[in-house]
Amino acid sequence: MQLQSITTLLALPAAALSFAWPPSTAEDFLQVLPDDNKIPLSPQLAITPEVAKESPKTQVVTLTRVGPQFGAFPAKPVGEETDDTPLPVVIWHGLGDSADAEGLKEIATLVEQVHPGTYTYLISATGAAGSEDRQASFFGNVTEELDFVCHALAGDKILATAPAIDAIGFSQGGQFLRGYVERCGGWAPKVRSLLTFGSQHNGIAEFQKCASSGDWMCHIANSLLKSGTVWSDFVQSRLVPAQYYRDTNDYENYLEHSNFLADINNEREEKNATYAENLAALEKFVMILFNGDRTVIPKETGWFAEVNLTSNAVTELRDRPIYKEDWIGLKKLDEKGGLDFIGLEGDHMQLVDDDLVGLFAKYFGPAGKKFVPLSLPLPELEL
Ligand SMILES: *[C@@H]1O[C@H](CO)[C@@H](O)[C@H](O)[C@H]1NC(C)=O
Ligand SMILES: *[C@@H]1O[C@H](CO)[C@@H](O)[C@H](O)[C@H]1NC(C)=O
Ligand SMILES: *[C@@H]1O[C@H](CO)[C@@H](O)[C@H](O)[C@H]1NC(C)=O
Repeated sequence: MQLQSITTLLALPAAALSFAWPPSTAEDFLQVLPDDNKIPLSPQLAITPEVAKESPKTQVVTLTRVGPQFGAFPAKPVGEETDDTPLPVVIWHGLGDSADAEGLKEIATLVEQVHPGTYTYLISATGAAGSEDRQASFFGNVTEELDFVCHALAGDKILATAPAIDAIGFSQGGQFLRGYVERCGGWAPKVRSLLTFGSQHNGIAEFQKCASSGDWMCHIANSLLKSGTVWSDFVQSRLVPAQYYRDTNDYENYLEHSNFLADINNEREEKNATYAENLAALEKFVMILFNGDRTVIPKETGWFAEVNLTSNAVTELRDRPIYKEDWIGLKKLDEKGGLDFIGLEGDHMQLVDDDLVGLFAKYFGPAGKKFVPLSLPLPELEL
């Protein structure tokens, strides 16, 4: 859902075009990208009962189902620092969303219901809300946006004084929060549990699977990524998804030019040891993959796996050099029990309340919490 909205974005009125269409160069393409007002609202995060009903494998349960769990986390007034005050939770949204979207507020409310008294913080990559934040999810230099976020979180009194924070990254927000941990873990608020939903840790090979051969907007977006221009500084400093585009058949160029992913994945010859140190300092890194994800290509990137798109062979994270040689601390994290792989039913970002409640109950809560398996049945989760 998050990535799909690129198609909507590209569906601009013809009046916006003051030059040859379709654009044949990256420069032309970027020129037609809209100013503030022309960016349409993205679909909200789907956590409604209606969505749950569409999926026969998921069932809607009310929060009272986890009643016994609430007993473990009694409500505390905000600001009253006691040992069982839940850690704050920060949330970074995906492509085409904004920090003030209703769906995100619902997620924050759900976190607060599971752990009463939780301070939640919705991340904006520019500090602005609405269309400006949504625009920054498509356009901008990810390094600069991430730097802004590090300072914003460090400048928040509650986050900065908490013993640690927990974090949720939806779709691209997931790899950006991982970048936050790696790059700013030494000085910005320290993350305990990082949950990423349908994120592109190993990059994307396409914007998305185009729905039909007639969906030429989608094909243009894909061809931009596949063209030589994707590696230009021009595109790498402006188009957000290009900065986590990763083509195994064009790996040399990726290594040389990728503005974000090749760096935070420490794929270049010169590794930054701080990245590995900071990531391994997490208590939990939970990668959640949507089994039916038809938006992210390949979906296995959500578990940091590598897919050969010619042979469709999947190399699991634990069989890859990034893990085996521990370029970014994942092996160290795994060896202390800090790396969890979870699969959820449904398409990209098709979230259901009971899955979220189970995850929030398991991974969030007070500082000093021991991460033991839940005794509650969580039928939809492979915990
Ligand atoms: C490694 O990353 C840290 C944290 O972002 C940064 O301060 C440092 O300059 C980097 N080191 C190198 C050699 O790039
Ligand atoms: C993105 O921003 C950083 C920090 O300002 C800069 O060093 C880098 O060169 C920029 N990337 C591109 C591709 O321009
Ligand atoms: C992908 O698989 C094809 C066919 O088996 C093989 O020829 C190619 O070398 C593989 N690509 C990579 C990057 O490993």
